[in-house]
Amino acid sequence: MKVRKAIIPVAGMGTRFLPVTKSIPKEMLPIVDKPTIQYIVEEAINSGIEEILFVTNSYKKSIEDYFDRSFELEKRLEQSGKLGQLEMIESVSSLAKFYYVRQGEPLGTGHAIMLVKEFVGNEPFAILYGDDIVDAEVPCLKQMIAVYEKYDCNVLCAEELDESMISSKGILEYENMETGKIKNIVEKPALEDAPSNRGSLGRYILKPEIFEELEKIDLVNGELLLTDAILLLMKKQPFYACQLQGKYYDVGSKFGFIKANLEFALKYKELKCDMLQYLESFHKNKS
Ligand code: UTP
Repeated sequence: MKVRKAIIPVAGMGTRFLPVTKSIPKEMLPIVDKPTIQYIVEEAINSGIEEILFVTNSYKKSIEDYFDRSFELEKRLEQSGKLGQLEMIESVSSLAKFYYVRQGEPLGTGHAIMLVKEFVGNEPFAILYGDDIVDAEVPCLKQMIAVYEKYDCNVLCAEELDESMISSKGILEYENMETGKIKNIVEKPALEDAPSNRGSLGRYILKPEIFEELEKIDLVNGELLLTDAILLLMKKQPFYACQLQGKYYDVGSKFGFIKANLEFALKYKELKCDMLQYLESFHKNKS
């Protein structure tokens, strides 16, 4: 069955990015001139997704507004003949069919996904975390859908990690490294105990049976974790990892956000030259 629906949970607290996330959702912070969330939505659409459901909360209204029509702004741009900008604004709201569900309390990623059971129904579905962006020639989710279609399985996305990152991430244990079949995820292992150097990032394709497993997991530090339900489902159904061809940025962290801004700016024709000159003179002055 085709993967048509995507869930983007955006109801987290964004504590790693305080104080700005006190009143601005981290998903709305711009990477150059587009909010993070738009890159994620565009990835989903360019991967063939038709319907997108955001798991949101009362602090994240600006996300709903962003993907809605802006009648007054559109009228003004039209009246003042700014047709290029008008087209840009209109295209955002017509990107896909958007739906919203509210998570009353941030009880974790597992809890956020429990709320989408009815929307998903009996289909496989994609999850894209609202603070992970990927720069890739073939969209990350499209790469994962290819693995789903090959094996008719649940799919995680793997990235190769530097040694320094291994003890702070969920590390994949492979049954077969060549096919990508996974048998376990080991949370934050010591470097010498790590089963591989690959971590999984915030993209998933899951079968609807995940909802039965979500019912069985317990709170950990006040949160239900999607990974715990995934580990239960892994005992019953095959999981494969798609080896990411591209670059991943954790834009929910300050350093990841700054790196993404710098590297994406270098891709903008109108910014590249100024950026390079600036970086060169900055480097000279520092050394
Ligand atoms: P994270 O753990 O990265 O986000 O969750 P967070 O909790 O907002 O971040 P920090 O650690 O406090 O800085 C991954 C994704 O799941 C969403 C987040 O918004 C993010 O997109 N999420 C997390 C929810 O929707 N609900 C939750 O209860 C927790």
